[in-house]
Amino acid sequence: MAIRVLSFVLLFAIVSAQVFFEERFEDGWESRWVKSEWKKDENTAGEWNFTAGKWNGDANDKGIQTSEDYRFYAISAEFPEFSNKEKTLVFQFSVKHEQKLDCGGGYMKLLSGDVDQKKFGGDTPYSIMFGPDICGYSTKKVHAILTKNETNHLIKKEVPCETDQLTHVYTFILRPDATYSIHIDNEEKQTGSVYTDWDILPPKKIKDPEAKKPEDWDDKEYIPDPEDVKPEGYDEIPAEIPDVDAKKPEDWDDEEDGEWAAPTIANPEYKGPWKQKKIKNPNYKGKWKAPLIDNPEFKDDPEIYVFPKLKYVGIELWQVKSGTLFDNVLVSDDPDYAKKLAEETWGKNKDAEKAAFEEAEKKTEEEESKDDPADSDDDKADGEEAEDTEGDDAEAKEDSDDEEVHDEL
Ligand SMILES: *[C@@H]1O[C@H](CO)[C@@H](O)[C@H](O)[C@H]1NC(C)=O
Ligand SMILES: *[C@@H]1O[C@H](CO)[C@@H](O)[C@H](O)[C@H]1NC(C)=O
Repeated sequence: MAIRVLSFVLLFAIVSAQVFFEERFEDGWESRWVKSEWKKDENTAGEWNFTAGKWNGDANDKGIQTSEDYRFYAISAEFPEFSNKEKTLVFQFSVKHEQKLDCGGGYMKLLSGDVDQKKFGGDTPYSIMFGPDICGYSTKKVHAILTKNETNHLIKKEVPCETDQLTHVYTFILRPDATYSIHIDNEEKQTGSVYTDWDILPPKKIKDPEAKKPEDWDDKEYIPDPEDVKPEGYDEIPAEIPDVDAKKPEDWDDEEDGEWAAPTIANPEYKGPWKQKKIKNPNYKGKWKAPLIDNPEFKDDPEIYVFPKLKYVGIELWQVKSGTLFDNVLVSDDPDYAKKLAEETWGKNKDAEKAAFEEAEKKTEEEESKDDPADSDDDKADGEEAEDTEGDDAEAKEDSDDEEVHDEL
């Protein structure tokens, strides 16, 4: 009996999730988060709004939303320090861009060691940065930056992010076998190995620099057809011939106009310079490739996935247009727990949120046409709005070049 109880306890210990940090933003959240004083003296530090947003599936399920345009935002929370060595690391949160974001981030960071949270800002070193980033038409992606040896390594694979005005859940999973997965709304969007999808270590295999293409390697896929010979007299066919249908005009005066000659026209017999036909080369061996060898520069680091002193979660953003709402932040070792949390929050509310959003859109449209009865042409109004947006875009791009992740790219 005692043994059965013990094994039950063990089993329970193995399957139960370890939650290092979970924030659903309920009352009292302000005691857990520290608003940074970064950019305050320049009056460009933005205020957070504790809200469920303009449209939501549950007005009581609040998060924190950027509330002022052209502002920097920096806020962080501390949790008991841990290492993800031999553990799976799950970093998850939801983000909603209510403002039709045209340039700005929706990412979060995990920080290590000792951070002065009051001074947390764009220059504070971080261990992991993860989440969506949008700028103009070209940048619409999920960042996954791993910092090793003080160097930020960006993921080399393209992972598109969501671009609508609804809540989405972003999940980063990093496993002790150095594989990772990126999920959006509980669906895997990318997966692979830290070894190959980031340039943290030199590659394990390289092309043998000593290898040479063998002399007799035939890599021509097509060769001239030896059966195809130039027909006799081919080169003598003129490109142009006199137009036989042309007639000397009645009023042509040989003395004044010179001797009349028929104009020329393209010769239908003329087929251009002769080219020998090509056929498939029967000796074609394919493109030659140097064989791969072990890279002498490669030194394995079995702890490539390890961040030994994770201790803070933070949001650090520059926003041209505010309205990004974060919620349900999780740092855990259990992807199933994260999945359940996403289902219980985003999953439960998403249909109602979408309906509320559509309702809000309809209202805005109605109000716009009421405000301006002379201009009932909705398309035109939309067009004007779009132009404004592009203006912000260019500005935002310039700004973010100095300040933000874009300069790490
Ligand atoms: C906070 O968000 C709510 C809901 O969108 C909005 O009504 C309110 O005006 C916002 N407050 C501030 C200070 O931005
Ligand atoms: C860390 O970076 C420095 C400078 O770039 C380099 O000299 C050193 O070898 C690196 N260490 C490791 C463990 O990669």
